[in-house]
Amino acid sequence: MTAPKKFYVKTYGCQMNVYDSERMSAVLGAEGYTQTGTPGDADLILLNTCHIREKAAEKVYSELGRLRKLKSARPGLRIGVAGCVAQAEGPEILARAAAVDLVVGPQAYHRLPTMLARVAAGERPVETEFPAEDKFDHLPADTRLRRTPTAFLTVQEGCDKFCAFCVVPYTRGAEASRPAARIEAEARALIARGVVEITLLGQNVNAYGDADGVGLAALIRRLAAIEGLARIRYTTSHPNDMADDLIAAHAETPALMPFLHLPVQSGSDRVLKAMNRRHTSDDYLRLIERIRAARPDIAFSGDFIVGFPGETEADFADTLALTETVGYAQAYSFNYSPRPGTPAAERPGVDPAVVSDRLQRLQAVLTRQQATFQRSMVGRVLPVLVEKTGRDPGQVAGRTPYLTAVHMPGGPEMIGRIVPARITAAVRNSLSARAA
Ligand code: SAH
Ligand code: SF4
Ligand code: F3S
Repeated sequence: MTAPKKFYVKTYGCQMNVYDSERMSAVLGAEGYTQTGTPGDADLILLNTCHIREKAAEKVYSELGRLRKLKSARPGLRIGVAGCVAQAEGPEILARAAAVDLVVGPQAYHRLPTMLARVAAGERPVETEFPAEDKFDHLPADTRLRRTPTAFLTVQEGCDKFCAFCVVPYTRGAEASRPAARIEAEARALIARGVVEITLLGQNVNAYGDADGVGLAALIRRLAAIEGLARIRYTTSHPNDMADDLIAAHAETPALMPFLHLPVQSGSDRVLKAMNRRHTSDDYLRLIERIRAARPDIAFSGDFIVGFPGETEADFADTLALTETVGYAQAYSFNYSPRPGTPAAERPGVDPAVVSDRLQRLQAVLTRQQATFQRSMVGRVLPVLVEKTGRDPGQVAGRTPYLTAVHMPGGPEMIGRIVPARITAAVRNSLSARAA
């Protein structure tokens, strides 16, 4: 008998790619492959890639350059490119990176076994169609051991919003929602394997709606009723899809955590219009107020793009003003990156030095807000879901309901439990605590 083949997956980009990598691993597991954490002893290496900004896409090509050397030392090694770069660039990847054996887009992961057979027959297959069949009906369930009590679960994929800067509608296709019954079955299977927190994923997760008319709020209420599921989160939401019943769910569903990632991108109405966001800064601020009225302790996070084509100093000042009004617990901010094929890529850009300066100023504000939020937790007793052992022996790491990382004394037997913890200090991006 020959030893089972080993595969290694490297994941870039968003949480959906993390989920997809788990599903691809399940496909390969069903094919008799075992997973390894070291690329050096893998027979198959998959890069699950991200195309959102130029830097993200370029990382993939530098990794492929390194892998080419590994492959010349071990000619039997097979290399696959999956994810959004695969979808966006397709056969160009084969031309640019000679070491690549297969290219598979996010809607075709269930076709990996046939693709691998084609690779074995000497082909270099590319699958970037959006096939008529639903991949989720063909992906095997992941029954492998889970290392953490938290899990991602994709409920919706794709985007119809076409923000002028964004590749996602092209790489993930049109909005599609999975049937609620399938999602519930997958959630139950995860819970049976020890998961106590599920984060529902979608590029526009709050636009979720299945063929039977089940929306995200109804789905959340249905999942909250499952015994053993203590925490539910969802990401990422678009402001225009924050329905009243979803806001109400934040008031009425204890398992729904008081944390919401709600990207706004800019505080300037002129820029929001140019971005095709279809909401004003005032719409966003009123929405934040309504959500806070439903769940006063909710913590917000957001995404910002700085230096979008045409952004003036006055526009940027509006962004700073918006952040002051909201008071984010945490936020991501990025320099605008022109992406091939998007409408904004054709427009004249802002001077890069100006953009970097604005990004620094915005990040200074956001860092200060995060520090203020974290300090406001010190002295309080919060329920912490223990996720893993910590960096130091005798220490565990977990998260508060507000998604802030917590380090506290404890042992591995605490993993998967929600323990009351007194927050003793705020340290950079996390909190220190002790059992209360
Ligand atoms: N579906 C989500 C997230 C999309 S990508 C949403 O609608 O918010 C995650 C973030 O990357 C975006 O919110 C945006 O802030 C950023 N982003 C997307 N395209 C970008 C680009 N071309 N340049 C810089 N940042 C970008
Ligand atoms: Fe991209 Fe806009 Fe869709 Fe978000 S809503 S994925 S930013 S196009
Ligand atoms: Fe990147 Fe694709 Fe996610 S472009 S952010 S991996 S949807």
